Amino acid sequence: MDRRDDPPSAPELVIDLDNVAEAYRSLTTNLPAVNVHYAMKCNPHPEILALLHALGCRFEIASAAELDALVAIGADPAQVLSSNPVKPPAHIARQHAAGVWRFAFDSEDELDKLAAAAPGAAVVVRLAAHQIRSGVPSEGKFGVDGDTAVALMLAARERGLHPYGAAFHVGSQMLLPHAWRAPLRAVGYVMSKLAAEDVFLHMVNLGGGFPARYTAKTPPIADYWAAISAGLAQLPYPVAAACEPGRALVAEAGRLRATVIGTAVRGGRRWAHLDVGAFNGLMESLETGNQLRFPVSDSRGSAARDRFHLTGPTCDSQDTIMFDVELSADLRTGDEVYLGTAGAYTTVYASRFNGFDAPVVRCVTGVAIETSDDAAYCG
Ligand SMILES: Cc1ncc(COP(=O)(O)O)c(C=O)c1O
Repeated sequence: MDRRDDPPSAPELVIDLDNVAEAYRSLTTNLPAVNVHYAMKCNPHPEILALLHALGCRFEIASAAELDALVAIGADPAQVLSSNPVKPPAHIARQHAAGVWRFAFDSEDELDKLAAAAPGAAVVVRLAAHQIRSGVPSEGKFGVDGDTAVALMLAARERGLHPYGAAFHVGSQMLLPHAWRAPLRAVGYVMSKLAAEDVFLHMVNLGGGFPARYTAKTPPIADYWAAISAGLAQLPYPVAAACEPGRALVAEAGRLRATVIGTAVRGGRRWAHLDVGAFNGLMESLETGNQLRFPVSDSRGSAARDRFHLTGPTCDSQDTIMFDVELSADLRTGDEVYLGTAGAYTTVYASRFNGFDAPVVRCVTGVAIETSDDAAYCG
């Protein structure tokens, strides 16, 4: 029989720009006197960048290509923080030539590269902040202890660089506001030691880590400010504060529409296979050992519910999104499944592994999309 399959409908990530704007307003209101630099790595969609830029947000970059995207929307490189502690020399040179002047580092090797490719640049030493585990741990790779940071800053001065600030990142999706306390104490220690050498810092970078709401409630942002402001107040002298939120600005604005491509019963458990999985949009499922619980709902919306393992389209057995999720009991191929809080670290990680497409991104305004507050919670 001559049969043509229906063209597959691509998965889609809808970003509610009004929600992004609201998240930015909430963060800036609740973190007064802190310069907010959006960590664009988590979703560099040009409409998000343009919106945040129009609202007065600054940016944080990890690469020269990220800077190009910012220049394209009219952002001023002089307001950009270059916070990747280890950068290819060519990226340093390009960023410096474009007007970026503040660079993170945590090694002598990086200082040598900075002195050569960005002579006279301001440098921000990255401190380790590994004490507390976050929802999506991103720490462990970067950062040094206080004494090493002091030695590195003095080494920076010897190379003609400007010892300018200290930075840390408590880990992404940090649900414990007091996680900022110990790193801020370490910043204070570094500042005191450097003051004895006649080196005075200008900035502390509080990093990212502010959480988004998935299925579990998050502490109020005011609790974060309480911990941070107390830590800032105890520094030996006042410095400007910056932060680099990613997830907290865009995650809740995103809703991923996926399609069920098949269902199965294996070992008595029901499986729902979607056209999106770990490799084409939901990499954080893998990074968190399937512990990141996106709020889910489905187009069938049946009163009868059942529990499913929600998995991706590839034949890689690691490609599972969440275990034990409640969905319509009569869910079948062709139905849609919606994942909330999908605006951060999703499409930007997507590959075409096994030939499956990344979601198409569509930004909307003035349309209330279902957010994590009204999506079905699957605990
Ligand atoms: C240097 C730096 N700043 C900020 C962020 C953003 O973190 P989050 O999305 O948790 O706010 C990251 C994320 O990995 C980062 O590496």
